[in-house]
Amino acid sequence: MTRALKSILLGIAALAVGTHAVPCQGPRTYQAEDAVLTGTHIDTAQPGYTGSGYVTGFDQSSDKITFKINSPSTRLYDLSIRVAAIYGEKRTTVVLNGASSSEVYFPASDSFITVSGGQVLLNEGANTLDIVSNWGWYLIDSITLTPSAPRAAHNINPNPVNPAANADAKALYNYLKSIYGKKILSGQQELSWANWISQQTGKTPALVSVDLMDYSPSRVERGTVGTAVEEAIQHHERGGIVSVLWHWNAPTGLYDTEENRWWSGFYTRATDFDVEQALSSTTNANYTLIIRDIDAIAVQLKRLQDAGVPVLFRPLHEAEGGWFWWGAKGPEPCKKLWNLLYDRLTNYHQLNNLLWVWNSILPEWYPGDDTVDILSADVYAQGNGLVELGQDKKMIAATEVGAAPLPDLLQAYQVHWLWFAVWSDGFINNAEWNSLETLQTIYNHDYVLTLDEIQGWRNSA
Ligand SMILES: *[C@@H]1O[C@H](CO)[C@@H](O)[C@H](O)[C@H]1NC(C)=O
Repeated sequence: MTRALKSILLGIAALAVGTHAVPCQGPRTYQAEDAVLTGTHIDTAQPGYTGSGYVTGFDQSSDKITFKINSPSTRLYDLSIRVAAIYGEKRTTVVLNGASSSEVYFPASDSFITVSGGQVLLNEGANTLDIVSNWGWYLIDSITLTPSAPRAAHNINPNPVNPAANADAKALYNYLKSIYGKKILSGQQELSWANWISQQTGKTPALVSVDLMDYSPSRVERGTVGTAVEEAIQHHERGGIVSVLWHWNAPTGLYDTEENRWWSGFYTRATDFDVEQALSSTTNANYTLIIRDIDAIAVQLKRLQDAGVPVLFRPLHEAEGGWFWWGAKGPEPCKKLWNLLYDRLTNYHQLNNLLWVWNSILPEWYPGDDTVDILSADVYAQGNGLVELGQDKKMIAATEVGAAPLPDLLQAYQVHWLWFAVWSDGFINNAEWNSLETLQTIYNHDYVLTLDEIQGWRNSA
């Protein structure tokens, strides 16, 4: 996972996903001409306005309209803006309570039209909502705030996709279903960092994610010794839940140069291994190497199966980003590889302890309902798209985040993540991402499940 991508996650206010809140109040319209105007003015030349006029004159970047809005409680609203962008398409900036801002696009129109401004989370009591110039030269007639509709009930598949899923995998799946939408599992990448959290907060993550990276044959042949299986078993034995990802070092074709050393071999930039070419026939030498690697990983997953550990398995992660070789040739070879992995591990190796976690968002990358148990994202702000992708039949997890999500926001937005897992060194221990105070709040929050609170999970669903 790259730092650049992670930096997108900093804005936790960007958690604008999901739709919901309690609707016991109808839509409310606020006329622009009744609001507080800064550098803008009322006009009536353009026909079709409501009230006694509209507001225009956004020529300086600080020009704005400030609406004062009272909300009976802290809740989410759908914002719409009645506007005429008579000089062509424009953009405005919506600023809520002087802090969080978002951009709204206005299509060109020679009369007043209503444009969606997305969702805003208003505090109980007084709020301000500013419409700030951005690309100016539009006419604002009014805004309307409607309490967002409550979220529809989930329709999660009753069983894991593998019909032969073993009792461990089924128990985990049932447990996850039982908490989904009600609580979130706390999670951490790497056992050592999970233990660090215990020291810092007095609470231990419910879920630990480990990486099969060092069992990749092209690393093992250069001397790596994986420890992820032992760590996973350790966390399982103390009653925790285990997630496994795999930074799959390319089977061959590693550049191993100064800039792209062999241990970077899961990056597209570090190898000329061509997944499309390798999968183009089952007789070619590189196909054989793919099978060799899958079989090597199967040995490790089998150790977990034998130890009774059900696994949230997340291979081929972040494929759509293209920065890993399995995603470098677009969606088709990647889906083919996913299907091969699923078939080889499930049917040939009889690994029935796995729940399959898919980790890309774009529909064209989705391998399909038959081989995916759980959808996930490594970027918060795209969760809404995931709900659509799985038609709410698949649970959704935030499998890699830079900053642990704030439970109050998750609840206010009804963002139903099954778990979150914070990335390891550089994130969990970096105050820019996770201050200790915030971690303590999160780890002690009622909405967040920690290791002590999930003891006996197997029998509780
Ligand atoms: C297998 O992949 C390597 C590394 O990309 C490449 O050099 C080689 O030509 C490929 N082999 C075959 C048989 O296509």
